[in-house]
Amino acid sequence: MILPPKALVYPMPVGIATAYDHEGRADACTLGFVGMCSHVPETVMIAINSTARRKTLESIKESGCFALGFPRKDQAAQADYLGIESGYRTDKLAAIGYTVTEGRDVHAPVIDQLDVTLECRVVGTTDFGSHTQIFGEILCIHASDRVIDESGRPDMSLADPLMYDDYGMQYYSLGEKVGRVAKLGRAFLGKGRDGGDVAVADAGPDQHQGDEGALKGLLEKLDRGEEVASGTPEFELFDRCAREAQAVTAAINTGYHDEAELRRLFSELIGKDVPQGFRLFPPVYADFGKNISVGEGVFINSGCCFQDQGGVRIGDGCQIGHQVVFATIDHGMEPEHRHDLHFGRITLEENVWVGSHATILRGVTVGHDSIIAAGAVVTRDVPPRSVVAGVPARVVKTI
Ligand SMILES: Cc1cc2nc3c(=O)[nH]c(=O)nc-3n(C[C@H](O)[C@H](O)[C@H](O)COP(=O)(O)O)c2cc1C
Repeated sequence: MILPPKALVYPMPVGIATAYDHEGRADACTLGFVGMCSHVPETVMIAINSTARRKTLESIKESGCFALGFPRKDQAAQADYLGIESGYRTDKLAAIGYTVTEGRDVHAPVIDQLDVTLECRVVGTTDFGSHTQIFGEILCIHASDRVIDESGRPDMSLADPLMYDDYGMQYYSLGEKVGRVAKLGRAFLGKGRDGGDVAVADAGPDQHQGDEGALKGLLEKLDRGEEVASGTPEFELFDRCAREAQAVTAAINTGYHDEAELRRLFSELIGKDVPQGFRLFPPVYADFGKNISVGEGVFINSGCCFQDQGGVRIGDGCQIGHQVVFATIDHGMEPEHRHDLHFGRITLEENVWVGSHATILRGVTVGHDSIIAAGAVVTRDVPPRSVVAGVPARVVKTI
């Protein structure tokens, strides 16, 4: 069936925009026309009907700012009321017993009863069609303790936001959490490309559960320093992990992420949680991803490359400079063995500082408190408390 046109986003969030009028009276109006429109600066867009009288629109235009809160499912009746009564006629917030606090960064009322509220400064408006589109740069987000998860972020299942269907004119609550963004779709990566497998029947959860077991076995084998013959299922697992690593690093390397988000994404890349004090400046690249471990207080600067199949262990407090390469694979020396792969773990003991553009090769252990000078190519173990420099790197000083 083809239906007539309708401004339909399915479902819509329910937002509540608030602003002070020129006499300092707070008003609020319910909005479905709410959307993100930019990461830099972090900006939201709301659209308010300019063909009808809306007190909130007038107040936002006058004050140059607004707050945008998100009601919970159990606040549906209050939200609905704010969308059918006008502040021109009544003090709507008083009518539902809601109170407000002055914004921290803007002169806009923040509704105390809402769990998540954005403080926004108007950075632009457009009049298109029936509505005025208002662009609000988000200056801060109020989030009540009840919606914050253990990683310090608002968790949507705790926030229980109200949604609405503009077509059916019904409110809905969110369903269950379905799965991780930029992870669920990875089952299809590479499918349908030239030479790729277009069938998706084998991309379901079973294969991934199987992969988890196989990955554990592969990592143990690499840990024992054993070879992995090409053409074996284990070898093919390298390829699947490489594509997963490309997907996660693409997410890390695109757009802006705060430190907590980078820790979450890097944990996903390496398949285990990183310590709280771990810091990363993107971009970062990994050939495999699943054989990296980082200690407490490690900092990795931008542009580093992890060819980590053989294992990269970075001890507590290590600092890795720009564009450092960890290369854990050698090829066979003899031409007839040139396509063989030999893996060897790289270990940095605690408190190692690796200068920019250094390359550390397969099997190397760098002793604690040592320094690798910028541009060095480290082919052999480095004793503790040593400074190495050059190509190949040699000890130039003992600390
Ligand atoms: C669920 C819901 C969503 C709404 N979405 C919008 C919207 O996106 N834009 C808009 O201009 N009005 C929207 N309205 C209507 C306004 O909230 C309503 O006209 C309100 O009474 C305006 O109040 P005010 O005059 O105090 O600003 C919506 C109403 C409801 C109930």
